[in-house]
Amino acid sequence: MSEPSALRLGVNIDHVATVRNARGGDVPDPVRAALIAEHAGADGITAHLREDRRHITDSDISRLMSQLTLPLNLEMAATEEMLSIALRHQPHAACIVPERREERTTEGGLDAVAGHNHLQRFVSELGGADIRVSLFIEPDKSQLDAAKRLGAPVVELHTGAYCDAAIADDGAGVEHHLRRLTEAAQYGASIGLEVHAGHGLTYDSVKPVAAIPELAELNIGHFLVGEAIFVGLQASVLRMRALMDEARHPMSTAAQ
Ligand code: PXP
Repeated sequence: MSEPSALRLGVNIDHVATVRNARGGDVPDPVRAALIAEHAGADGITAHLREDRRHITDSDISRLMSQLTLPLNLEMAATEEMLSIALRHQPHAACIVPERREERTTEGGLDAVAGHNHLQRFVSELGGADIRVSLFIEPDKSQLDAAKRLGAPVVELHTGAYCDAAIADDGAGVEHHLRRLTEAAQYGASIGLEVHAGHGLTYDSVKPVAAIPELAELNIGHFLVGEAIFVGLQASVLRMRALMDEARHPMSTAAQ
């Protein structure tokens, strides 16, 4: 079997902004967090500009674009406002996520099947501006086929159901959701999609997902920011990176 390719870590800094916004003011600064994550070995920074600006703000996006050397993955709803912001800032990537109940499938990802007509223009306008588009979907064949039909080069598989089963210590559930993620990653890669995954991953749940060889990137935020309260952000990112590497290359990391 050939070596699995490298697995990138995208660090989501939204919840640094959540803490800042709880008091207003400027601290803690999500841009500072992004620079620390970069220093600790993150391959990209992810930030979600929500319609209600609950965490990241427009000025955070401007500062990230001017201060980061890592690629920025902007998570956004498929709305006119977010499209024009993305086109103005030209981040490396845009991940289209659901923000309203009616945009969701039953389990939480974007419904790319039912939303095909609405999503089409967003995918083509972002792609036309050289922004790498991904769709945040459930690990489901019909959603992968829909993403392919839409012309999105990347999908991000929602790992929430797997993580919920892991937290509940539900062995059968973990196995079931891991199988769905594995099969979806294999199928997605077989139809030419680049496949990412994320949502809810922790030190305890990351390794089985990171071991799926078809995955090219994991996006992780809430746990890393929470853990940073105890050990610092640099240490939490380094530890997550090490666990991902151990899962990908068990032989070489064991020999070190
Ligand atoms: N991927 C996507 C598309 C997301 O919207 C989020 C944030 O909800 C994440 C990954 C990261 O999830 P978490 O913060 O739970 O690690």
